[in-house]
Amino acid sequence: MVNLNPEKLPRHVAVIMDGNGRWAKQRGLSRIKGHHKGADAVRDVVKTTRELGIPWLTLYAFSEENWKRSAFEVKTLMELLERFLKEELHEMLEHKIRLQCVGRISRLPQRTREALEVSIEKTKDNTAMTLTLALSYGGRQELTDAARAVGALIAAGRLSPDDISEQTISRYLYTYPMPDPDLLIRTGGEYRVSNFLLWQIAYTELYVTSIFWPDFGKSDYLAALENYQQRERRFGAVFD
Ligand code: IPE
Ligand code: IPE
Ligand code: MG
Repeated sequence: MVNLNPEKLPRHVAVIMDGNGRWAKQRGLSRIKGHHKGADAVRDVVKTTRELGIPWLTLYAFSEENWKRSAFEVKTLMELLERFLKEELHEMLEHKIRLQCVGRISRLPQRTREALEVSIEKTKDNTAMTLTLALSYGGRQELTDAARAVGALIAAGRLSPDDISEQTISRYLYTYPMPDPDLLIRTGGEYRVSNFLLWQIAYTELYVTSIFWPDFGKSDYLAALENYQQRERRFGAVFD
């Protein structure tokens, strides 16, 4: 039985939703079927996050590197995302969830981008929870874009290199002004971060489960949160 302390919940949970393809392969199904089932798991995790009152949830839905997949898989993922956004809009409005996204959104196909823009605009005043989708997202690309922005300020004579602080860098990340994740969950069993939120996870607690994303249900999520609550976060300091 999961025993959660409501006082010690993470403020921001980030998830690398991995394992859709392997879930499908295990069942003799196409990878696409795995992605469809994965969308249901997204609904569940959003619902539970909202119920628990966790204010920030960030989901890695499509990486900058995922463009290397077959044209068919990419197209299907984009269509699935578009459908998901349209189907979930009423739920997001009803539960006061604000949608936003991080990543190089200009690379998305127009229809997907439009669905995204509509949902972002319609949910922008919601305050109960922020759902952030990382789409065409890469941590190195994000840091590169930040470096360009800071470089442009310097070139314009508006910033001196000596005045660059951690806050300056954070200010130009796609995630600004979000808090850094407290907990990063990766499903599918790989012990790597795959270019996700590189700067932001400096002191994030990591939780890897071998469960494939489509099978990741409420009880698995609660188990991850319970595990998180047992961690001692030290941030480099010593607590006696
Ligand atoms: C995660 O599942 C979904 C995306 C990356 C879009 P995968 O499609 O990576 O599934 P595996 O890792 O091949 O099993
Ligand atoms: C990470 O999964 C990206 C997403 C979940 C969107 P990948 O399947 O792309 O990562 P690798 O290839 O195993 O590192
Ligand atoms: Mg994968």
